Amino acid sequence: MSDSVFGIFTGGKSIGRNKALVAKNVSNSYNKKKFLENINFVVYQGEIFSIIGLSGSGKSSLIKVIIGLCPKTSGKIFLFGRHPFFSKKMVGYCHQEDSFLPNLTLMENIELFSSITGAKKKSAIKIGMDFLKKFRLEKHKDDYPFILSGGQRRRLNIVLSCLHSPKLLILDEPFAGLDYYNRRLLWDFFTDLKNRGVSIVLTTHLLNEAQDYSSRVFILKNGKKFAYGTFSDILGKARFNHLYHIRFNHLSKSFFEKMKSFCDFKKIRIIYSYKREIQFALENLSEKSRIDEFLKKNGQSYDELALAEPTLDEFMLVSV
Ligand SMILES: Nc1ncnc2c1ncn2[C@@H]1O[C@H](COP(=O)(O)OP(=O)(O)OP(=O)(O)O)[C@@H](O)[C@H]1O
Ligand SMILES: [Mg+2]
Repeated sequence: MSDSVFGIFTGGKSIGRNKALVAKNVSNSYNKKKFLENINFVVYQGEIFSIIGLSGSGKSSLIKVIIGLCPKTSGKIFLFGRHPFFSKKMVGYCHQEDSFLPNLTLMENIELFSSITGAKKKSAIKIGMDFLKKFRLEKHKDDYPFILSGGQRRRLNIVLSCLHSPKLLILDEPFAGLDYYNRRLLWDFFTDLKNRGVSIVLTTHLLNEAQDYSSRVFILKNGKKFAYGTFSDILGKARFNHLYHIRFNHLSKSFFEKMKSFCDFKKIRIIYSYKREIQFALENLSEKSRIDEFLKKNGQSYDELALAEPTLDEFMLVSV
C-alpha cells in the first residue's frame, strides 16, 4: 500500500519507514448517526502521533475502532501491515478510566496484567518494576491503589498497559487532570519509548504540548478529517495567520454590531470578545491597517494589546 493512497506524507522523510498503524477509509455510526467518516492516516514506527479535536469530535471513538473495542461500518485498519487480529500482542492500550483492580496491590496488579496480556511473567515483573521506578511509584508496590493520587493512578494505568513491551502504545487522554510535573514525566517516558522504536498514538486537548512532543497530528472535526500532517505544515496552511488583539476605551453595543458587519465583508473574523476587548483573526497582515482605519474613521480610541501568529490552541479556536 503506497503513501500516495492517503494523499499525505510524500516527503522523503517517510520513505522506507515502517508503518505501525494504517487507517484506511474508516467510517462508523452510532444508531445510524455517522460519527466517523472516511478517516485515513498512517502512523510510522518510532513516532509520537497525536489525535486532537474539540470535545465530541470523535477521538475516543476513533481509538476504540482502532483497537477493536468498537466495530467499524466500513474501512480497514492494519497494525504492522497485518489484520489487527494477528498483531494484537504488539499493541498496548490505555483508556481514560482506571484499568487496575482496586483490591490488588500494585505488584499483584502487575502480575495479573502480565498474564492477561500474555507477557512472560518474569520479564513482565521486571518491566513493571522498572516502570514503577521510572514513575516514582516503587515505594507503593505493596500498597493498594486507593492510596495513590490521581496522577499516580494514571501512571499505574500506563505501566499496566506496557508490561508486554508493546510496539504500538495507544492512549486516550493520558494527561487528563495531570499537573505540569506529571505531564513532563509522561512526555519524557513516551519520548524514551519513541527513541526505542515504539509508536505512540494519543489523544489530548493539550495542543501546545502535543506540538512540542509529537511529530505529526490528525485533527478531527465532527468525525471527519480537518487536518493531518506535521504541525508546521498545518499551521503554514492556516487560513487566518495573524491575531490582532485590542482594548477599547469604550465599546457600545451598536458599534460592536457595526464592526461585526464590517468584518463580514473583509478577510477578518472576530474570534473573541469580552467586555471592551476584541481579538480578530486576519487572513493577512494588511487587514490590520483596514481595522485601524475603520476604527479611526469612526472616532474609536483603543490600545493595541497584541499582534501575533496564532498558537495551535488559537488555530483550533479560529479554524475548527
Ligand atoms: N456509545 C455511544 N452511543 C452513541 N453515541 C456515542 C457513543 N459514544 C460516543 N458517542 C457520540 O459520538 C461522538 C464522539 O464522541 P467521542 O467520545 O468519540 O468524542 P471525543 O472527541 O473523544 O470527546 P472528548 O474530547 O470529550 O473525550 C459524540 O457526539 C458522542 O456523543
Ligand atoms: Mg474522548
